[in-house]
Amino acid sequence: MSRQKKPLDLTGLRVPVHVAIIMDGNGRWAKKRGLPRQAGHRAGVENLRRVIDACVEFGIKILTIYAFSTENWGRPESEVRGLMRIFRRVLDQELEELNAQGVCLHHLGDLEGIDPDLQEKVRYALELTKDNVRLILNVAFNYGGRAEILHATEQMLADGVSPADLTEDLFSSYLFTRGLPDPDLVIRTSGELRVSNFLIWQAAYAEFLAAPEYWPDFGREELYEAIVAYSQRERRFGLLSES
Ligand code: IPE
Ligand code: IPE
Ligand code: MG
Repeated sequence: MSRQKKPLDLTGLRVPVHVAIIMDGNGRWAKKRGLPRQAGHRAGVENLRRVIDACVEFGIKILTIYAFSTENWGRPESEVRGLMRIFRRVLDQELEELNAQGVCLHHLGDLEGIDPDLQEKVRYALELTKDNVRLILNVAFNYGGRAEILHATEQMLADGVSPADLTEDLFSSYLFTRGLPDPDLVIRTSGELRVSNFLIWQAAYAEFLAAPEYWPDFGREELYEAIVAYSQRERRFGLLSES
């Protein structure tokens, strides 16, 4: 039986240019079903496919996903190994389709910290998709906001940037997100109300949405509802209300 997509009307809605997602709750999704955590991570990746398709459908131009944090290395070795296995498989099996779909992949984080063969796959994927323009997909992998800020600072010192020349724009140009607009909307699934070291510079004025669903259950319709909620927000950036 083919499942028809429910028609969703975007008329009159303000679609965010850049959506960032903290894909949380895979473990709890699995636990609820009596499955191992790895099954939750696999379901999370399957869901990512649906959400990427929905971003293209809704006209979102940039999607940033938090896939693995600098702190996640502290999880049990078997879980970390399982996650790396999933990332390898995604790069092997999904890359062609992502490329055909016009997805341009970016990596946020430190590549050096991961296995050389995985680094190689990531570099290949970035090179292959670099001219695509339909959707920019930033994958935060071995990423931490604090590490990113330290990394940027080290690079600026190495370049001999003078304190007199230091501006917010210059600083931003040293971050992994260089050249991209800040996220308009940050979504965290699984109901948690924290930032967990994600885009702590870039999300200074992002709208925040905590979705109750675990990540594997946050699909096209939930993303649509997030856009509806975003459309109703008034972003003031420290200024006064327009009304
Ligand atoms: C998010 O799901 C995926 C990663 C952090 C890699 P979790 O693994 O954090 O799932 P919960 O929060 O334990 O349910
Ligand atoms: C944030 O989720 C990291 C990713 C989604 C990759 P965590 O599950 O690691 O965050 P905490 O530990 O609940 O803050
Ligand atoms: Mg979690």
